[in-house]
Amino acid sequence: MPLVTTKEMFQKAYEGGYAVGAFNVNNMEIIQGITRAAKKHNAPVILQVSAGAIKYAGPEYLKAMVNAAVEETGLPIALHLDHGPDFETCKECIDMGFTSVMIDGSHLPYEENIELTKKVVDYAHAHGVVVEGELGQLAGVEDDVNVSEEDASYTKPEQVYDFVTKTGVDSLAIAIGTSHGAYKFKPGQKPQLRFDILAEIQEILPGFPIVLHGASSVNQDHIKMINEYGGEMPDAIGIPEDMLRQASSMAVCKINVDSDIRIAMTAALRKHLSGNAKDFDPRKYLTPARVLIEEVVSHKIETVLGCADRA
Ligand code: G3H
Ligand code: 13P
Ligand code: ZN
Repeated sequence: MPLVTTKEMFQKAYEGGYAVGAFNVNNMEIIQGITRAAKKHNAPVILQVSAGAIKYAGPEYLKAMVNAAVEETGLPIALHLDHGPDFETCKECIDMGFTSVMIDGSHLPYEENIELTKKVVDYAHAHGVVVEGELGQLAGVEDDVNVSEEDASYTKPEQVYDFVTKTGVDSLAIAIGTSHGAYKFKPGQKPQLRFDILAEIQEILPGFPIVLHGASSVNQDHIKMINEYGGEMPDAIGIPEDMLRQASSMAVCKINVDSDIRIAMTAALRKHLSGNAKDFDPRKYLTPARVLIEEVVSHKIETVLGCADRA
């Protein structure tokens, strides 16, 4: 099976009350860790590449490695541009054979976000590629102090119908209280998501796939491991798994995870290198990193996403 778009994946996920994991990839070990877990659970998967990943690894390498994973696993895999910054980057990825792109116009004034997103949709659809747009900006924890500022960063349900119909996007990323990175809530703060906003959007756009960014759960054992072996990660708090499960059972069809993979990889590397001071074979220290990534993704498929045996 060649690379697929997310169209059928999302339709099945919406109907089945589960979500597909979208994991950020930057190198071979990350791709292998993720796709080995997906294979073990016979799960569909989205491998996503940011502008930073493209700069680090080069798009040709990433695409070739993702194609290798497609060939090896036989799973439905989509190759997605994460947080596409402009039309040109989206076009490059579409021209290269990506099956899905995100155009992130969430920082732009509303009308400009519509204009840019529609331009990407027109080009993408003419090439059989699907598009994710974004409305609302992911809340950072500082926004909690000021209610009006906080509300301004959440997605406004009254805009979603207009945005989706005017742009023609295939899925929509929304802001309901998640945020990028490992530090999503203040120490002692009770994690909360605005499920009321998600429910309202679901009612306005029945059957339409919603995307949740900033959805890492931040495994506390991995944080401890990093700190035990010489790292310094203070009180990192992620999105509780039960909340992600709840979102997956609603309109959320795509859950984005990057930080959890970075943390697992770092934890495994620190542990291995600190116990093997004479080791200088990258295969030795990258193996435990790849294994821990596989464990993290396996756990997500089984307990958070609910997409096992849906390939
Ligand atoms: O949401 C952003 C992703 O975690 C990608 O991060 O731009 O550092 O590759 P990056
Ligand atoms: P995390 O930082 O929570 O892993 O979010 C990743 C993401 O949203 C990628 O687009
Ligand atoms: Zn994101």
